[in-house]
Amino acid sequence: MIQRSPLIAGNWKMHLTIPEATALVRELRAGLQGLEAPQVLVAPPFTSLGPVKQALEGSSIMLGAQNMHWEDTGAFTGEISGQMLLEVGCSHVILGHSERRLIFKETDDMVDKKVQKAVALGLSPILCIGETLEQREAGNTYQVLREQLEGSLASCIDSRALPETLILAYEPVWAIGTGKTATPAQAQEAHQFVRTWIQEVFGEEAGARVRILYGGSVKPENIRALMAEPDIDGALVGGASLKPESFLGIIRYGD
Ligand code: 13P
Repeated sequence: MIQRSPLIAGNWKMHLTIPEATALVRELRAGLQGLEAPQVLVAPPFTSLGPVKQALEGSSIMLGAQNMHWEDTGAFTGEISGQMLLEVGCSHVILGHSERRLIFKETDDMVDKKVQKAVALGLSPILCIGETLEQREAGNTYQVLREQLEGSLASCIDSRALPETLILAYEPVWAIGTGKTATPAQAQEAHQFVRTWIQEVFGEEAGARVRILYGGSVKPENIRALMAEPDIDGALVGGASLKPESFLGIIRYGD
């Protein structure tokens, strides 16, 4: 049986100055000392990536970015390429976050191109999917998830291969920053749907291997129950990743 290593990732969104970001990393490092911890990743804003990378020197905490463009270079004002993320020391990149999809109008087609470019460059994509409250209440959750998977992984489907480095994140939009977590059973049901879809499209092995993180109001108080579900392999944490106490509490599964 394939063992999936748990991953706790902090998405800092548009928060923290450089001094705040590096101070947080120092506290996380201190708090992780001697701890039998899952894999940990932080995804600061672009401006803090370099300083945070330096502050992480010699630590096992991984560095991710929150977005990238699919082209290598060019006239794309305001954008950052995957190569630039590698240059500053990122190993991962969050793609297709609901805030990118809803506020910045990113389409599945754009996300698909980003996934392809990230994988080609050796960056591990953390591909986000998730339904809005309206979609859930209309009974369309699984249709939405299927469409997002089909669209964002269109090129992977064409080549019939799920990249080994790809990580998925199920983030119900109604649970993001609202304090409303999906119940462990609701999250498990969605994760199981996603894993089954991966299995059907890419084969048993890919389905058993792919890690699926849960995101949406994860806190020290609810992480243990979420992690106890068989198809939840970690968390993508927003608000609670900005404070050392709460992020470390999540990394310790609430202890
Ligand atoms: P919150 O943990 O603040 O709900 O955010 C979740 C999220 O969007 C992580 O990417």
